[in-house]
Order: sequence, then structure tokens, then C-alpha cells
Amino acid sequence: MRNLNEDTITQAVIERFSRTPDPRLKEILTSLIQHLHAFARETKLTEAEWFKGIDFLTRTGHMCDDKRQEFILLSDTLGLSMLVVAQNNKKPAGCTESTVFGPFYVEGAPHYDQGEDVANGAQGEPCIVRGTVRGLGGEPVPHATIEVWQADADGNYDVQYAHLAHAQARGVLKSGLDGKFHFKSIRAEAYPIPTDGPVGEMLRASKNHPWRPAHLHFMIKADGYETLITHVFRDGDQYLDSDAVFGVRQSLVKDWVKQPDGTYLLEYDFVLNPEK
Ligand code: BEZ
Ligand code: FE
Repeated sequence: MRNLNEDTITQAVIERFSRTPDPRLKEILTSLIQHLHAFARETKLTEAEWFKGIDFLTRTGHMCDDKRQEFILLSDTLGLSMLVVAQNNKKPAGCTESTVFGPFYVEGAPHYDQGEDVANGAQGEPCIVRGTVRGLGGEPVPHATIEVWQADADGNYDVQYAHLAHAQARGVLKSGLDGKFHFKSIRAEAYPIPTDGPVGEMLRASKNHPWRPAHLHFMIKADGYETLITHVFRDGDQYLDSDAVFGVRQSLVKDWVKQPDGTYLLEYDFVLNPEK
């Protein structure tokens, strides 16, 4: 295959990959080649711009380690994460909606009993979170594994502190026989996603802010039900309509209500989709 030109190269590259035995991988590679080439044609990409793009992606990779995932951040801020979540989580009406996972989940978070304080020393306005895990038919879901994680009052997750010896503002608990759960924590606050890497540069260059509206992350697993990955967002937050990662769903917005003793209360019930 010689003398390929800008009109013939795309088909030649697709044919080069046409022997890919895995049909799904072949489909993805073929589509990726088509869209990448179409992008270069449509934008009349110059060589200087292409090198700049390679440099951007290289620096994005260099920013990644076991605590920092700049590629997830890139996918999130370009709306790709939320698109993939949306097209893979079409649930029946009545189920709790899903939203982005984000880069701050940590496996092996401490386990707590009902009523315990998952803040574990994290600074913030004290609050109680309570609710019920149910199935789509309204049945309580007992023994559901409920993982929660959130930022502190300064907008940082525990993993963003270099010298923290133990997990803060994250934990795992089980729903009771009646599907109910409750725990203490701190009120969620808005925070900016990390902007000290290439994604921050991209946001500044495009005059976009890095803020996420205040939210509490949940991952809920129970036998016989699809895993639910979601957040509860705090009502009234100024960033609900401009979330840096496009994750807000109205059904996930709820008020943290101030109680007479000055603490806050969030009540939220989750509805899981039965496994097919
Ligand atoms: C988060 O909510 O933890 C998050 C999601 C996407 C990007 C950055 C942070
Ligand atoms: Fe978050």
C-alpha cells in the first residue's frame, strides 16, 4: 500500500485493522479511526496543533498515579464520562438515577455500624444522613452494602492530603433488615476539581470554572440488584446548573435541613433496579 493520500488513507487504515479477531474490539477501533480522521479533516488540524495535542495527552498521563487520575478528569470535563453513564444506565422510572463515579473512590474504606460517624475527624458542619434502600417494587433491601465518600469543608477528599494516616469522610455500612440506614458525617460543600494539571489548563483556556456542586457519593450493592453509583446533591448550591463534570440530575437534589440543635439532616431513599 503506497502513495496514500488524504482521501485514501482512512480506508487503508481501517483495512489494516480489519483482521482484529475480537468483533467488539474491531468495531471500536474502526469507529475510532473514522472519527479521529474526520476530526483532523474537519478542523484542518495543523502539525503544530497535533504536536500540542500529543504534548497535552503526554502531560495528562504523567499526572496519573494511584492517587490522581487526570485521564478520568479529562473524560469527566469533556462530558464523556456522563455520556457513557447515561447510555449504560437507562433504568425504569422510579429507580434512583446514576451519575459519575469520579476519581476519589478508594477501595477498602473502614466499615461502620449504623449511627457511627464516618467523618472520622474530617472538618465540616455535623450532619446525620438517613434513608431506606428499596427495590423497584417498594420492597426494603436488607444487608445492602452502602459505600459513602465526600469532601471535607475545605473541599478536599482524604486522599488529597499527603500525610493523613487514616480514612476520613468515607466508609462502608450495611442497611438493616428493614432496608434502613443512618450515619453521622459532615455536610457536603461545593469544591473545585483539581486544576493543577492539563485539565485545569483546558478549563482556564476555555473560560470554564472547575466547581462541582456540593454532593455526597454513594455506591450501593445488594444481591439481586444492579449496583447503583450515584450522588446526592445539596439543594440551593450555586453550581447545580454548571457542574464541571455535567453530573447533576434533578432527582438527586435534596436539602440538608438544619435541625434545632444546629446539626443538619439529609434524608434520602434509594431505589435499586432488579438484576435481569
Ligand atoms: C467527584 O465528585 O469526586 C469528582 C467527579 C469528577 C471529577 C472530579 C471529582
Ligand atoms: Fe465528589
